[in-house]
Amino acid sequence: MTQDEMKQAVARAAVEYVKGGIVGVGTGSTANYFIDELAKVKGRIDGAVASSEATASRLKSHGIQVLDLNSVGGMDVYVDGADEITRNFHMIKGGGGALTREKIVAAASRKFVCIADESKLVRRLGAYPLPVEVIPMAAHRVMRQFAAMGGQAKLRLRYDSPLVTDNGQYLVDVTGLQISDPLAFESEVNQWPGVVTVGVFALQKAQICLLGTADGVKTLTF
Ligand code: A5P
Repeated sequence: MTQDEMKQAVARAAVEYVKGGIVGVGTGSTANYFIDELAKVKGRIDGAVASSEATASRLKSHGIQVLDLNSVGGMDVYVDGADEITRNFHMIKGGGGALTREKIVAAASRKFVCIADESKLVRRLGAYPLPVEVIPMAAHRVMRQFAAMGGQAKLRLRYDSPLVTDNGQYLVDVTGLQISDPLAFESEVNQWPGVVTVGVFALQKAQICLLGTADGVKTLTF
């Protein structure tokens, strides 16, 4: 099975968790496969809350109604991918740059179903560059704070200019960190002035992980 086939398989499996109502929808290539599968059962749901402009466009292109989070009470389920996930269901997210809205929509949902191919399962977070959304004026100060922690931080660029998120902010990607205590790490970095969202999802972790493997989809529960 190729990586894309694993992503498709977990996306298909995630649809089983959608019983009706409004669904929270993540961002990225695996989430895109989920949107395509969700479209096949769209009669079952009342609409979706999107975690990015890209996801909103894809949902709309399938005729799925996109709702403002402020107009809905909350969702039963949020389905999204991850850049890394541990056996404790702590994650790194934000490779696609949508981490802030992903954390908000996940927080508004009762259950986070993470869909990922097996390459995303890790013992410890930190090999994948950690995305952090920052207020532009704070970017270099936040980068220096990561350097003081032993990390190497880079501003994410697009065509030689800082990439601007859906929220009008910048992204910093940090390598060289050993995130041995994701809960403490997330809590600490979230307090730094100018940090909008850190891409560690430990306070806001998954409840179920559908893992695509060569032997098929494995359902990991915590
Ligand atoms: C988007 O900002 C990310 O959090 C994605 O959910 C994550 O990067 C996984 O993306 P893929 O499914 O494309 O690997």
